[in-house]
Amino acid sequence: MFLLFFFVFLISVPCNAQSSDDEMNSFITELMSRMTLDEKLGQLNQQQAGDITTGTPQNTDAGRLAAQGRLGSIFNIMDVQKIHDLQRIAVTQSRLGIPILIGMDVIHGYQTIFPLPIGMSATWDLDAIRESARIAAAEASANGVAWTFSPMVDISLDSRWGRQAEGAGEDPWLGSRVAEAMVQGYQGDVFASDKGTGIMACVKHFALYGAAESGLDYNTVDMSHIRMYNQYFPPYRAAVEAGVGSVMSSFNLVDAVPATSNRWLLTDVLRRQWGFQGMVVSDYASIDEMTSHGLGTLKTNSARALLAGTDMDMCANGFIGTLGQSLNEGTVTMEDIDRACRRILEAKYRLGLFRDPYRFGDAKLAKKITYCKEHRKTARRITAESFVLLKNDSIGGNPVLPLQRKGTIALIGPLVDTRTDITGSWSMAQDASKYTTLREGFERYLKGKATLLCTQGCNLIDNPHTQQAVAKGHDCQPIPFVDSDHALGEALDLARRSDVVICAMGECAWMNGEGTSRSNLELYPPQRRLLEALLQTGKPIVLLNFAGRATVLTWESQHIPAILNVWYGSECADALCDVLFGDVSPSGRLTLSMPRSTGQEPLYYNHLPTGRPVPDGTTDYRVWSPNYLDVVQGPLYPFGYGLTYSRFSYSDIRLSSSTMSADGSLTATVTLTNTGKREATEVVQLYIHDRVASISRPVKELKGFQRLTLKAGESRDVTFTITPDLLKFYNSDLDYVLEPGEFDLMIGPDSYNLQIVTFEVK
Ligand code: NOJ
Repeated sequence: MFLLFFFVFLISVPCNAQSSDDEMNSFITELMSRMTLDEKLGQLNQQQAGDITTGTPQNTDAGRLAAQGRLGSIFNIMDVQKIHDLQRIAVTQSRLGIPILIGMDVIHGYQTIFPLPIGMSATWDLDAIRESARIAAAEASANGVAWTFSPMVDISLDSRWGRQAEGAGEDPWLGSRVAEAMVQGYQGDVFASDKGTGIMACVKHFALYGAAESGLDYNTVDMSHIRMYNQYFPPYRAAVEAGVGSVMSSFNLVDAVPATSNRWLLTDVLRRQWGFQGMVVSDYASIDEMTSHGLGTLKTNSARALLAGTDMDMCANGFIGTLGQSLNEGTVTMEDIDRACRRILEAKYRLGLFRDPYRFGDAKLAKKITYCKEHRKTARRITAESFVLLKNDSIGGNPVLPLQRKGTIALIGPLVDTRTDITGSWSMAQDASKYTTLREGFERYLKGKATLLCTQGCNLIDNPHTQQAVAKGHDCQPIPFVDSDHALGEALDLARRSDVVICAMGECAWMNGEGTSRSNLELYPPQRRLLEALLQTGKPIVLLNFAGRATVLTWESQHIPAILNVWYGSECADALCDVLFGDVSPSGRLTLSMPRSTGQEPLYYNHLPTGRPVPDGTTDYRVWSPNYLDVVQGPLYPFGYGLTYSRFSYSDIRLSSSTMSADGSLTATVTLTNTGKREATEVVQLYIHDRVASISRPVKELKGFQRLTLKAGESRDVTFTITPDLLKFYNSDLDYVLEPGEFDLMIGPDSYNLQIVTFEVK
């Protein structure tokens, strides 16, 4: 019987996947006319891999659900064979043979791991970001994955929040460009044809997840609509406009209602205002968590989530378990269930799964391209682009970096020998056995040229239990807990025998990502103690600060001559050699503000003015002003900041006109000159400030950038076109308006180092 249905499917699905919406609609209408309530609810049900990870799909809960047609989607299985076996159960054993949508958290690469998303944004290289997503999708697709839960585009202003690692930082305009690039990179032309490559993207976490109070993950969010529209919504909307196929709702409250059941958010904003037509999946068990938010039972909340616009229930078992009863009781209708079911079937149809349920997953191709040479080469280049050089003092007239490939070099720190942590958090499908540790990478690079001495030097943190147990909980090989005195003695001995000391420190993989909020953003105490001791040797020190958020480096900036911020990646070791020894000049720029003290958080450059402005960098205490008593105002390293091995000069800004009409445009040009001795890359940044408006507007906002590589001595004109769209904002009525008047236009190398000119919109 089944075979007959499946055959009917195959012949009734149009051969050309570019078939019109009409063909898709009639196919789905016909299919749904044959579906039972249980089968429809089954499509709304998503489960995690669970026991499939260790068992065979036939004997697992997922296998049983698949055979009954009650599993719409499953995620985080990392085995093509298992994925296809499960798919085969759905397609050949369930009554209607509807294929399963296979999802996964492919966040910054599948097995070729790129820097954390916050590090990818620090490249300010949209082509590189798009390419990294394309490679991630190619590997994931070959390994059976059809759908990634990425990009995360939550604006986050507070580095105490560990998930800052997964986003593009604090800026809505940059965040929007990154969101578009990632959606394009992941999806490619996957919806356009059966031959298309890519996988479906999922923009998350809609919405405002990054605004958790006090940077505490999962904490309350409370925000004005004006702020949502102007500061937090733009990247989600940009992803929707780039054609993202799915949206994940967030855990948090929006206007005191959990996002997953917030009808205003999921229907009025997302669908009516932005025109989103894809499917919405809840975050993990967020329908269940609504009970803890104080909103009643799983049944009530499942009905609410469905009515609000959530189509798929991730792991709460609320849709599959309770919507039938709610239907009987009349709190949801068959139309509500059909609407969600249709959106999920549409996603499957558009992905070509009805034509070929095994379209994703090709063991031979997977073997060929997963972590292949070409992907690694690209990842190495992009990883090198992501490092941000924060400091590079001269000693004896020469900058510490780049280092010479000679003499004796000490490489010290808790991250020197780790293989699992080198990729950073959220590296689900990593195969650490293939990656190069820092020690191995440096040894290979320096072989025959310089002597490398390595040791761990200190513990990651002071608490042995946490260092061991948390690592295991996160599937990381724990960094060994060593005897501190012995480790320090060895480190000092190696340092004394070396010409320069490179310290690999900071956070290991489980210290950022989900559920990793921190109340103190300084380097962990054992690491700081090691730095203090090493300084006593008088040797030049280079600090490699591994992080997924801003670190408070105030003490380090006063004592350590060279600091490079590193955001992980499977090719990190090789990329570090490229940059530290000068084959490549650093070109990363911060996409978050680095505070001087944790208490300044949330700290961000594009804040609103206050009635009593105090300039950043001020130390004087001013009575009744918004300044801290105990810290210099403003960031230690601002948004957009980063050094390189050369220097650039900027000419004055030349405006094509000092006025612009409300539907016109003007251009702003600077001549950029590489005045140093080496080829290097500069990120020229454009900021705008609306001087007088009907609502208070940020002191400055990024509205453009260009990333240019210039040879030593080379000059180039850099031109930005100012269009009305760059000047618009949402006013008190939430209308998107351009208000005439004076605007400051600023250009420079970072958000604080800017020239200003003024123009007027008439
Ligand atoms: C919870 C996280 O918030 C989300 O980002 C992730 O995609 C899901 N779990 C699935 O792992």
